[in-house]
Amino acid sequence: MRIVIRIGGSVVASPVNTELMSKYAEIIKTLKQQGHEVVVVLGGGALAREFIGIAKNLGLDMTGQDEIAISCSRLFAQLFLKKIGEAGCSKVAITLDDVAQCLGEGKIVVMGGLKPGITTDTVAALVAERVNAELLVKGTDQDGVYDKDPRKHLDAVKLDRLPIEDLGKVFEESVHKAGIHQIIDPEAIKVLKRKRLKLVVVNGFKPANILAAIKGENVGTVIS
Ligand code: UTP
Repeated sequence: MRIVIRIGGSVVASPVNTELMSKYAEIIKTLKQQGHEVVVVLGGGALAREFIGIAKNLGLDMTGQDEIAISCSRLFAQLFLKKIGEAGCSKVAITLDDVAQCLGEGKIVVMGGLKPGITTDTVAALVAERVNAELLVKGTDQDGVYDKDPRKHLDAVKLDRLPIEDLGKVFEESVHKAGIHQIIDPEAIKVLKRKRLKLVVVNGFKPANILAAIKGENVGTVIS
């Protein structure tokens, strides 16, 4: 199966968790050995947010802030790619063409950000669209998608399934801001809808959840 796995910066990089990164590297190599084609998209996490703050203090505009954050996510991608070793592409993918080419060479693709104005959620969705991935899995810092923000509402209920059409209703922030944190960013929702991509949102602190989602087990929230 062709799969795009998006690992939140909030999971592996806030603070940086090398043990978890190593576990992910093992899991992704296993998936490759099982015959899956995998693209991994890593977020910039707290480091990206810190640098966005620095860029802002320097008076850089939103595009400048985003570009700095993209570099942070690519730094994590580079670390991860090196950890994967031989099974991975020779370089961090920085364009959709890079992704297609490297996947064609039978390697694991690893990337961070792509362009200003989005988050790596949208990167993952754009990649899935470009390479016709069957499945997108997002490892995040919550157990899935809730009917309302679980950090603000104690009575929020986790949804096991969510029709793509209802995605927009669940989220409050609807325009891009540098450093935006929402379980799926607004631009990504547009791409998911236009391609009707299947996305499973799981708790990324337990990498086994990614495997469970790929096997079609009942985990996290399935959006389709
Ligand atoms: P990330 O997508 O790297 O966040 O976006 P993350 O750390 O994984 O976040 P969680 O885990 O979902 O919270 C961080 C910021 O980097 C810029 C944006 O400012 C974004 O808010 N960014 C990232 C881009 O502008 N373009 C990209 O392609 C990726």
